[in-house]
Amino acid sequence: MEKLIIQGGNRLEGRVRVSSAKNAVLPIIAGTLLASTPSKLLEIPNLEDVGTICQVIESLGVKITRNNADGEIVFDASTLTATEAPYELVRKMRASFLVMGPLLARKGEAKISMPGGCAIGARPIDLHLKAFEALGAKVSYSDNGTYTIEADRLVGNKIYLDFASVGATINILLAAVKAEGKTTIENSAKEPEIIDVVNLLTKMGAKIRGAGTDTITIEGVETLCGCDHEIIPDRIEAGTFLVMAAAAGEKVIIQNVIPQHLEAVTSKLKEIGVKMDIVGDSIIVHGGLDNLKPIDIRTQVYPGFATDLQQPLTALLTQCQGASQVVETIYPERFGHSYQLNSMGAKIDQEEAMCYINGPTPLHGARVYATDLRCGAALIVAALMADGVTEIGNVYHIDRGYENIYH
Ligand code: EPZ
Repeated sequence: MEKLIIQGGNRLEGRVRVSSAKNAVLPIIAGTLLASTPSKLLEIPNLEDVGTICQVIESLGVKITRNNADGEIVFDASTLTATEAPYELVRKMRASFLVMGPLLARKGEAKISMPGGCAIGARPIDLHLKAFEALGAKVSYSDNGTYTIEADRLVGNKIYLDFASVGATINILLAAVKAEGKTTIENSAKEPEIIDVVNLLTKMGAKIRGAGTDTITIEGVETLCGCDHEIIPDRIEAGTFLVMAAAAGEKVIIQNVIPQHLEAVTSKLKEIGVKMDIVGDSIIVHGGLDNLKPIDIRTQVYPGFATDLQQPLTALLTQCQGASQVVETIYPERFGHSYQLNSMGAKIDQEEAMCYINGPTPLHGARVYATDLRCGAALIVAALMADGVTEIGNVYHIDRGYENIYH
């Protein structure tokens, strides 16, 4: 689909089920490379990024069987042969880089170009490469932009992450599970998606302790076997739906959530004055824009406020009675949505790694385009509240991470 055309002012009503987590399913699919027998993953969401990582691992020789319509896929990595991820796929999606760890663990070699992905600022991979070297790998970089990482054997080590990087924590886990001896990751990321990856690896036979804390230890094992695994719900999709329901909903029931994963965003929505009821694995949102209070947001690593949700929430903050502030500590340049929202009537003042959202400002329809995945979500939220018709271009960004946000 080239563009979305949204008529503002219609109220959302009814229920929506949150899909499995994109940022868990991508590393978990990469993790199936480690097993010498097939793994069956359940409820895999139909996302562009899932398609891309499946193409990457198929190009490495993995056999993929899509069993049925509701997202059950079998990955058989017993036929893993290649060790180079195709450039045209890697440049589309940064998460392709997560095949490095398992390739090193299984084949002792991995070749990949600098990964691409969302335009939200510099996204270096120095922490990943330093960690692989700490495990005994040799990293070389050729002038055509390809990294070659080789290791006759991986030996466990103590690795301190300068930043609690989600991707680096995952790549280290995916390499260290078959390294000789013990690996300790200090200052590891604590996101729920990390825990879900560790749950898969443990089922495969890995020996890991401390997932969800800032110190994870891994005892290497010889062999990992395939397993069945159901992915956790997507907390970022759930948070996006909460914001949409608050912005344009009457009564909306958001199903298949883990409320604990959403505490940062639900507490901020309550601070704004959004009415919500948490009932088991559902959240009922009573939408409405009257008397919303401005707030301050500071993005943090989990369990802090997720950087992936500051963009959609900013659209709602344009309707608060006063000035809100967003400080972005993870991706200082993640503000592609500000310009787009301002063209719809918002008054967002942009500064270095932060912005002020002056509200309330009536929003009007406009021709806008998604600069990245979560900017696209922010524009949908704004279009639902706007007076008139909004055209959103570059919809492919939205399709990367939301299975049915506009269906
Ligand atoms: C994951 O990206 C997510 N992607 C991102 O979601 C999410 O925004 C991010 O974690 C933070 O939560 C996936 O899981 C596929 P990081 P990742 O490594 O692993 C710096 C979305 O919208 N850094 O935790 O790439 C980096 O520059 C996407 O779904 C280094 O400096 O994030 C950034 O400032 C966007 N060197 C910070 O760490 C490194 O080697 C966070 O990066 C690695 C990272």
